[in-house]
Order: sequence, then C-alpha cells, then structure tokens
Amino acid sequence: MNPARGDDPGGAALPPPEPAAIEHSERLRRRIGEAIDAAGGVIRFDRYLQMALYEPGLGYYSAGLAKLGAAGDFVTAPEISPLFGDCLARQLDDLIAQGCAPQVLEFGAGSGALCAQLLAALPMLERYLILEVSADLRARQQAQLRATLDADAFARVEWLDRLPDGFDGLVVANEVLDAMPVRLAEKQDAWLELGVACRDGELGWQAVAPDAPLDAAIGSVERAAGELPAPYRTEFNLNLAPWLRALADACRRAVVLIVDYGYERAEYYDPARHRGTLVCHYRHRVHDDPLWYPGLQDISAFVDFDAVADAAEDCGFTPIGLVTQARFLLANGLLEAAARRHAGAAATRARVELAQQVKTLTLPQEMGEKFKVLGLALGVDVGVPALARVGRDG
Ligand SMILES: C[S@@+](CC[C@H](N)C(=O)[O-])C[C@H]1O[C@@H](n2cnc3c(N)ncnc32)[C@H](O)[C@@H]1O
Repeated sequence: MNPARGDDPGGAALPPPEPAAIEHSERLRRRIGEAIDAAGGVIRFDRYLQMALYEPGLGYYSAGLAKLGAAGDFVTAPEISPLFGDCLARQLDDLIAQGCAPQVLEFGAGSGALCAQLLAALPMLERYLILEVSADLRARQQAQLRATLDADAFARVEWLDRLPDGFDGLVVANEVLDAMPVRLAEKQDAWLELGVACRDGELGWQAVAPDAPLDAAIGSVERAAGELPAPYRTEFNLNLAPWLRALADACRRAVVLIVDYGYERAEYYDPARHRGTLVCHYRHRVHDDPLWYPGLQDISAFVDFDAVADAAEDCGFTPIGLVTQARFLLANGLLEAAARRHAGAAATRARVELAQQVKTLTLPQEMGEKFKVLGLALGVDVGVPALARVGRDG
C-alpha cells in the first residue's frame, strides 16, 4: 500500500460502512470489550491490534472482507504490477546462482500474486512455502493459485501451519512487518503507554504504565536517537525480536528479503514525527484513528529498519544492505523488464499502464523512497549489489 496516498488524512469524509459491516464491527467491538473487562478495564494497544486485525472470523485480516485490490482498502506492489515480481525474481535467480537452495518461504502472501509471479519466472523453484496467519487469506490464496497456476507449479506450493525445521533457501516478506501489532507510547512529563479501554460501549484511550519490555525499547531508542521532545507519540514493535528469533531458529541457511515502508531510526524518531507513524486504510482513504470501526479497516505502522537489523543481528543474521525500493528494483532490471513487457503488450492502454506502474513503484512521492528493502543472511555468504547504497539516499 502507499501510506502517503489518500485524499482524506483526517478521516472526516470516510465513506460510511454498510449496515452489515457496522454489525460485523459491533460483534468484534463487543469481543474486544470482553477482553478489556477480563483484563481489568484496559488492554495494551498490541492486544487491541491483534484482535482488530487477526481475531478469528472477525479481525480485519481474518474475516471475509476484500482487503487488497481495487475493491478493497489498499493495494501492494505485487498487486500494482507484475514488474515487482519480475525484479524480485531476478534477485532470487541471482541468489540461486550463488548457491542458495531453490526454495522460497513467503510470509503473509496476501492474494497470492507474488507467489504466482515468482513461480512463473523461476521454474527451478522446487518448493514455495507460504506461512499466512489469516485463515481467510490462506483460503483465498489457495483458490486463486489453483485457478491461475498450472498443475505442476501449484503442486510445489505448500501452506504451513508453523515455521519449517532447518529451512534452506530464500525468505520473502512484503508488507508483513507493518501489519504486526505494535505498542503505543506517549511522552508527556514522563513516558506513558496508551492502552484501550471501553466506556459505555465506546472504545477509548487510557494511559497505563509502560511495562519492562516497553521501557527497555523506549530507553534503547532514546539512547540511540537522542532524547525525544514532549509531547511525542510513537510506536514500538515488540513482536519483531521474537519473530526474527523464531525465523533464525527455523533456518539452516537463508537469505531474507524484507520489503516495507519504514525509516532508519533517526528518521523514524525524528522530533518532528511527534504523532507517530500509525496509518489506517479504508476504501483507499488514509486516516489516523485506529479505534474507528475495528475489523473494517487496515491498521499498520511504519517499520524501524534499524530495530529490525539490530534484532536480526542479535539472532545471528548478517544484515546485507538496506536500500530504497526504487534503487532495489532499478538495480534488478526494472526498466528492462518494463521494456520487455511493453514490447509484448498488444494494446496501447497496457503500455500506458506499464509506464504508470514503473512510476508508482519508483517515484519518491509514490512508493519509491518510503518503501525500503532490507536483506539479511544466515549461514550463507552472498553478494547482493542491488542492496548496496549508492550516494546519499541509497
Ligand atoms: C499488508 S498484507 C501484505 C500481503 C502481501 N504480502 C502483499 O504484498 O500483497 C499483510 C499480510 O501479512 C500477513 N501477516 C501478518 N503478520 C504475519 C506473520 N507474523 N506471519 C505471517 N503472515 C503475517 C497478513 O495476514 C497479510 O497476509
């Protein structure tokens, strides 16, 4: 998705949900209210997000909503253009030529679009594993890939219920880290954590004391990025380290490519970014109220790529580079891929669309700079020139 896009940053003109959707959100809100009661009157924001996004049958990603694509709430790079898959395939092809095993593990495969693109471009792939937390998306991926892939390619796709043992190959996560539940903290005279309470059936904010893990995360950011001014609100992804630890434990040899919108630490915790990075998507509009109709909207936070790289190193990964999406795609033959598809496109309209897709993927004001690609290696020594920075902005 492009979190900068959207003509409604304040949320004032969000289209009203249908009555059935409101009823759906009400059911989830009641479930969240029960969790709040059970917890003694307030839950931490990551628990709220876990329920708003992933509560079985009710959460945004777990219920049967359209989510991705024109009929949903946002689009991602593999949905925008097959050129994204062309470039990623070229990178994976190069890594396989350097000795990486021809297997892919994709986290959070969305509609299955990237899987289809990679299997089409890389016939040598022996297995394509998908680990998807949403049962609804998993079912959609299975239906979509069964309908679009040939039988041989489809037979190589495997959906996992848990991480594999001793994985050897290539790991891909496009826009997965931004969808992980985060903690929310606010600095006033001191740091507070923002939790979610329920009064008279309405969800609202309630300050709680940060627990030890959040305290430690705040301390390490202020040590690295400098003391933050007050007032200052921001997010902390405490799920990152356990996710990377589990991934490291599951892999024998791997190269991991993480693509997402985010910043390095100094930019993430810029004093000017005092309202944090949370972003909500509903019907291709962007707004900033995560408590609005839980279950009907996507809620995400930008990724602190230094936090990812540091936590990854603690787990034994070697960071092999962080660059903008534009740089990564261009270094992996974006323009050549566009020219090839352009030459093969019969209709003028298709050619115009390709040119537009290149712009969307690479222009700084679109996805080009806000999205970054981070590479991590475990147990392999590979060269990835596309992840090497050139000049100031990488
Ligand atoms: C914003 S969507 C991106 C989908 C897809 N990668 C794409 O680019 O179109 C986020 C996806 O990540 C999945 N997800 C979130 N946390 C996950 C986790 N810890 N493990 C696996 N999948 C996860 C969601 O269910 C969803 O499929």
